[in-house]
Amino acid sequence: MDLKKEAAIKAISFIKGKSKIGLGAGSTIAHIVNFLAMDMVAGQELSLFTSSFTTHQLLLEKGFSVRHTGDIAELDIYFDGCDQVDKDLNAVKSGGGIHTREKLLASMAQLFILVGDQAKYTSRFDVKYPLVIEVLPEALFFVPYQVHKLFPGARVSQRMSDRTDGAVITFNGNYLLDVWFTEWPEPGPINQSVKLITGVVETSLFYNLAQKAIIAYNEGVIVHEKPIG
Ligand code: 5RP
Repeated sequence: MDLKKEAAIKAISFIKGKSKIGLGAGSTIAHIVNFLAMDMVAGQELSLFTSSFTTHQLLLEKGFSVRHTGDIAELDIYFDGCDQVDKDLNAVKSGGGIHTREKLLASMAQLFILVGDQAKYTSRFDVKYPLVIEVLPEALFFVPYQVHKLFPGARVSQRMSDRTDGAVITFNGNYLLDVWFTEWPEPGPINQSVKLITGVVETSLFYNLAQKAIIAYNEGVIVHEKPIG
């Protein structure tokens, strides 16, 4: 059984009629696109937005048109995958390096739903996932200097490209810093303190943003809700 496909099937059931839908990145989201494409009549009723180049290409390939995020202020639902999500529905989205666009769509959404398989759900974030910080090029040395003051035990490295000679440059023309913890600190304070450093554009920690996480387990799909309070 493909658990990500099961999560995608459940995700589709949240889409009701004409609506503005945002889609993130990854293999679970690709399943959602494939399911939408199975009913193009209903699919064409949707206004679709995406944070991901790859998802954008897939949507075009399937015959959908994709609208520009800069043209809207609100979305009905934003679906996205993650590296990990905790029981409070805070998520780490570090792999893709596109978290700034992802967080913008997530913030615009009336309903932000994370989707994935059981491997994503955790009680505490794993240190194999870094906190990724998108920084202005001019802040390349200033931000790590400030991060070391906040988290003396953490290691900071610039994300380099494995396909071209040089650094990864984001869609926004910025650099990415990977912050490697020996143990993940509490998410709330990190979110506040790192965001306050001048030169930080956005971090890959999605704190207090998702309302639901659709997680497919071997035993069935569970829609985890954000705890109240
Ligand atoms: C990258 C992400 C992606 O959404 C996530 O990695 C997708 O995972 P999957 O392919 O398992 O759906 O957050 O930062």
